[in-house]
Amino acid sequence: MSLKEFSNLKYNTGFGGEFASEDPRCPESLPKGQNNPQICPYGLYAEQLSGSAFTAPRSYNVRTWFYRIRPAVCHKPFSRIDQGNMSNDFSSTVPDPAQTRWKPFDFPKKGEEIDFVNGLATICGAGDPKSRHGIAIHVYSCNISMTNKAFYNSDGDFLIVPQEGSLYIKTEMGKIVVNPNEICVIPMGIRFNVSVSGNTRGYILEVFDAHFELPSLGPIGANGLANPRDFEYPTACYEDLDINGYKVISKYQGAFFEALQDHSPFDVVAWHGNYAPYKYDLSKFMVINSVAFDHADPSIFTVLTCQSVKPGVAIADFVIFPPRWGVADHTFRPPYYHRNCMSEFMGLILGKYEAKEGGFLPGGASLHSMMTPHGPDSECFNKASTEDLKPVRVADGTMSFMFESSLSMAITDWGAKICEKVDDEYYKCWQGIEKKFNPNWRDETNGESGPPTKKRR
Ligand SMILES: [Fe+2]
Repeated sequence: MSLKEFSNLKYNTGFGGEFASEDPRCPESLPKGQNNPQICPYGLYAEQLSGSAFTAPRSYNVRTWFYRIRPAVCHKPFSRIDQGNMSNDFSSTVPDPAQTRWKPFDFPKKGEEIDFVNGLATICGAGDPKSRHGIAIHVYSCNISMTNKAFYNSDGDFLIVPQEGSLYIKTEMGKIVVNPNEICVIPMGIRFNVSVSGNTRGYILEVFDAHFELPSLGPIGANGLANPRDFEYPTACYEDLDINGYKVISKYQGAFFEALQDHSPFDVVAWHGNYAPYKYDLSKFMVINSVAFDHADPSIFTVLTCQSVKPGVAIADFVIFPPRWGVADHTFRPPYYHRNCMSEFMGLILGKYEAKEGGFLPGGASLHSMMTPHGPDSECFNKASTEDLKPVRVADGTMSFMFESSLSMAITDWGAKICEKVDDEYYKCWQGIEKKFNPNWRDETNGESGPPTKKRR
């Protein structure tokens, strides 16, 4: 497949927008004044894709109307197919609270040809898609494009974080190109096809409960963090291709099913609605942070959140640690030591992570499970507690991220053993932390090392 068709794409902008899009080859293809006319323009079929219950409150109600060459139902029966290393079964694994770190996940071996769907592997997760409660964290590693094949997830939304190589994604709503340092979300049910150029790798957060939304900003105000205007949505672009044996793969209740049809499913000529895939460039994130002393919690770096029914508690947050200034006075600036009632899965898109400069590598990952302690290694602690606290750039040339979840996750067999990437030495990075306690300590700085006093302000 030529990637030329992905050049000069136009996007709609605005998070959660109500868009209307027509392929310019078919002007006036969107019916006027109604969704479901007796006869649609150009002999198209009308089809609604509902992303929320019909009766969901208006602020959560999402759906899109397609005007397409054939309705999606024109396919042969589903049959179960092998799902490789993909799993949504988190109840039959042995629990392990250990701090876990993975070396970079492998690209396909020499001579192997693996596409995006065959290259999916599940690391960890919790809950289950049947009851529509839980999450799963996957990696993908592939080197060829999906040919005559589309995929859709009946269980939840995918938030895709490319780490190596761009994703050229065809969806029913149009095309998107997602480069490393950008992310995309493909909501439940939307069919998509991924083309790649060479070795391609990244991470996926799958959520079963709800859709991703922007976090509330509270006292931050109307602007900041990920701004709605920076989210980009595809525009209608159809292909009218009759292809025998086109495969449509559905992930349904954690299993894979294939249905054959005789045409491309990317035959949507026009659409309107507020349920669509989108992408976001992480470099557009407006960072908020402490400009006096101490730390704000890492929730200030939340790009998108999938909320639970408990107020303020996320099924999963997508959090990034972007380049920024570090200016806090009399403060230990790296992440603090802590234990958390949330699970923290981290990945590194590029560069070196600030709290551990070795061992945590681009394309690798770490998991700090519920209440498992973690924090900077001894080298980072020693450096940060003695360095001159001038304003410094932090995380330049890097981008790490966290999938933070209120669910207690289990690691799959693939994540624990089959991938052969678990770093057994990880615990050692905290073994060098020395006892520095001195019962005879006296403050010799006249309070200059402590919190700000009235006098110092
Ligand atoms: Fe943490």
